[in-house]
Amino acid sequence: MLIPIQGVLSKAEVQEFRALLDQADWQDGLKTAGTLARSVKRNQQLDDGSPLAQELGKRILRKLGNTPLFISAALPSRIYPPKFNRYAGGGNYGAHVDSAVMQVPGTAISVRSDLSATLFLAEPDEYIGGELEIEGPFGIQSAKLAAGDMVLYPSSSLHRVTPVTEGARIASFFWIQSMVQNDSSRTLLFDLDQSIQSLTPLVEPDDPRLLKLTGVYHNLLRLWAQP
Ligand code: NI
Repeated sequence: MLIPIQGVLSKAEVQEFRALLDQADWQDGLKTAGTLARSVKRNQQLDDGSPLAQELGKRILRKLGNTPLFISAALPSRIYPPKFNRYAGGGNYGAHVDSAVMQVPGTAISVRSDLSATLFLAEPDEYIGGELEIEGPFGIQSAKLAAGDMVLYPSSSLHRVTPVTEGARIASFFWIQSMVQNDSSRTLLFDLDQSIQSLTPLVEPDDPRLLKLTGVYHNLLRLWAQP
C-alpha cells in the first residue's frame, strides 16, 4: 500500500533544507549504484558521509519520531540514515526493486528494507516529470507530492522515477525495517489504529468497545511484532 504522509517538514523547514541543498556538491548517482541499478539509474546524490547529509538526515529522523502517522504506518524498528538525491536534465531511475538488506555505512548495523520512503523537497510545479511510479496489485500508482510531504511504499514493489525534463526534483529517500515485516499484517494494524484514533473523540475514554478495540490492536501487535 502507498501511504502519503503530509507535512513531515514544514514549509519553513523545506526552505532551510533547500537553501543548503541548492548549494551542495551533488555527485553522480552511479557512484553508489549496484550492478543491477547501474543500467537504469541516472541522477545525482549527496555524499552520505558529508556533514550536510548527516545533519539534515538527523533532522528528518527527529521529525519522523514526532509524526504519529509515520509511526502508525511504519511501526519502525530501524531506519536507514536518510539519503538525498537530485534529478534534472532528463535524469530518471528506471524500474527496479530496492536491495533487501543494507548495511549502515561505518557500522555493523544492517537494515532490512520493508518500507521505502521518499520525502519530497521540491514543489511539484518546480519540475516537469519526476513522478515516482510504484507497481502494486491494482496497477501503477504515481506520487508527486508537495514539498515536505512523504510517501511510504513496500520495498518489495517495482518502482521508477520518470525523467525530469525541466527544473530539478530534490528529495530525501531511505528505508525502514518494520517491527511487523509482513506488509498485509502491518496494513491491518494501520487501518485498525487509524479507525481507533478517529473513534476516540466520539466516545467516552472508558467506553468498553473502544477499550476492546484498543486491546485487539495491542494483542495483534504483540503477536506480530519483532522489535
Ligand atoms: Ni528505489
